[in-house]
Amino acid sequence: MLAGRQIIEAMLDRLDPRRFTQHATDAQGQYTFHGQNLELFESTAPEVVISGAAGTGKSLCALQKLNYCAWRYPGMRALIVRKTRTSLTESGLYTFEEWILGPDNPICNTVRRSHRLAYQYPNGSLIVVGGMDKPTRILSSEYGLIFVQEALELSEGDWEILLTRVRHTRMPFHQLLGDTNPGPPTHWLALRAAAHKTVLLHGKHEDNPMLYNHAREEWTPAGIAYLARLDQLSGHRYDRLRWGRWVQAEGAVYPMWTPHKHLVDPFKLDKYWRRFIAVDFGYRNPFVALWFAVSPDGVIFCYREIYMTERLVSDHAEQIKALSAGEAIEAVVCDHDAEGRATLERAGLHTVAAKKDMSLGIQAVQKRLRYDDNTEPRLYFFRDALVETDKNLADAKRPVCTEQEFPGYVWAPAIRTDSIREVPVDVDNHSMDCVRYAIMYVDDPGTVAYQPRYFKGLFASRDRMVQRFPRGRARRKARP
Ligand SMILES: Nc1ncnc2c1ncn2[C@@H]1O[C@H](COP(=O)(O)OP(=O)(O)OP(=O)(O)O)[C@@H](O)[C@H]1O
Ligand SMILES: [Mg+2]
Repeated sequence: MLAGRQIIEAMLDRLDPRRFTQHATDAQGQYTFHGQNLELFESTAPEVVISGAAGTGKSLCALQKLNYCAWRYPGMRALIVRKTRTSLTESGLYTFEEWILGPDNPICNTVRRSHRLAYQYPNGSLIVVGGMDKPTRILSSEYGLIFVQEALELSEGDWEILLTRVRHTRMPFHQLLGDTNPGPPTHWLALRAAAHKTVLLHGKHEDNPMLYNHAREEWTPAGIAYLARLDQLSGHRYDRLRWGRWVQAEGAVYPMWTPHKHLVDPFKLDKYWRRFIAVDFGYRNPFVALWFAVSPDGVIFCYREIYMTERLVSDHAEQIKALSAGEAIEAVVCDHDAEGRATLERAGLHTVAAKKDMSLGIQAVQKRLRYDDNTEPRLYFFRDALVETDKNLADAKRPVCTEQEFPGYVWAPAIRTDSIREVPVDVDNHSMDCVRYAIMYVDDPGTVAYQPRYFKGLFASRDRMVQRFPRGRARRKARP
C-alpha cells in the first residue's frame, strides 16, 4: 500500500502540466504526414474533406490536427462527431485514444470510451464527442474545429447544421473538416465539392508511412500485405476502397436503397407487435440473424442483428435466446440447412423453412423499400442494430452488417445474351438473403396473411406458435 505522502506525490504528478505537455506535440507530433494528409493538416479552409481508399491515414491525420490545435490554442473548443455516437467508440475515439493521446494519458484514462462525453485538456481546451443521432447536447454550443468522421454517412442537412456551429473560438481560423471513403459520384458531398463549396482532398496509400517508405520509395511489408487484402475486394468496393474512386455501384438490385430514408433511429417497440427472426447460416461466410417487428399497419422494422463469421450455430442459438429475453418471437425463419435448423430446434427455437424463390423475394423487398413523394417505405432498419462487429470482416474491409450489403448487391452481368433469368452476383449477399426470407415470410402471396387466430391451427400447439423467452440475466453484448 502507498503511504500518505506517496499518494499526495502521485496526485501532484498527475496534475503536473509537464506530464500533460509531454503528450503535446510540435505540429505533426510523433507522426509525419505526407501528400494529401499534410495538405489536410495545414489547411485553414472553412470546409475541407479528405476522401480516400481504406487505410490511407485520413482519420489519424484529422484527429492529430484536433489534438495539436487543442494544445496550440488554449481554451479552444472542438467537436468529434459521426452519424451515431455508438459508431464513434471503436472508430474515431479508438484512434484518438490509442494512437494519439496514448492509453495512459490522464486526459483519457478516466472514463470508458463508450461513455466519453468530452476530452478536457489541462490548458482549458475541450474536445466534445457526439453523434448526430442525439444532436441537442452537441449542437448547443460553438466550436473552432469540427471533425466529422465518415462524412458520407451524414445528410447535407446535417453538414449544414454543423457549419452553423463553427466559429472563431480562440483560434485564428475555424474549420469543418471531414474524412470519408468515397461513395457514388452523385452523393451530395461530391456535388458540393464540384460546386467549390467544400475542398475535397484525395488521399492515397502512399500518404501513409506505415504502408509506404518514403525514404526508400517502396512499399513496406505491412503495405504489401494490406494492399493484397484490398485486392481481394470486388465491384464498387474494390474501386472505392482500393483506389479511392467515386464510382457508382453498377446494376444495383435495390437502387431505391437510401440510407437516410431506410435507416431510422431506434425507438421502443410495442411489446404486442408481431416479431420474428430470419437466419442465414454460415461459418466461413457470416452467419446472419435479423430480428424483425411488424407494426399493426404492416410496416416492418429490423431492430437487431448478428453478422458473424467463425462461430458455431449452437453458440449463436444461445446468444439469440439471451438477446430475445422478454420478447415474444413467433418463429425463426431459416435457410434450408438441415443441420443448422436442427441445432436451433435442439436449443428450443422454433424454426420454419424460408421461401427461397429469389425472383419473387427480390420483388417483394423492392416493393417494400420503394418510396416517392406520396408514399413512404414499408421496411426500415434500426441504426446500430448490430450486436457485435466481426473484426475479421472489418479488417478485410468486407461488409459487417446489412446496411453495408445493400449498396453492393448488384445484378450479375448476363453470361449468355439469350439468358432470361437474372440473378444477383453471389458475393456479400448474406443479409440480403435474410431480408428476402423475412419479407417473403410476411408478404408471400402464397401464404395466408397473418391472423393470430389462424396460428393455432398451423402449429402444433400455442407454445410452439409464439416463443416467449424468459427474461434472464443475459444481456446484449457491449456494442462497439
Ligand atoms: N502518418 C502516419 N504515421 C504512422 N502511421 C500512420 C500514419 N497515418 C496512419 N497510420 C497508421 O495507419 C493506420 C490507419 O490509419 P487511419 O485509420 O487514419 O486510416 P483511414 O484512412 O482513416 O482508414 P479508413 O479508410 O479505414 O477509415 C493507423 O492505425 C496508423 O497505424
Ligand atoms: Mg478512418
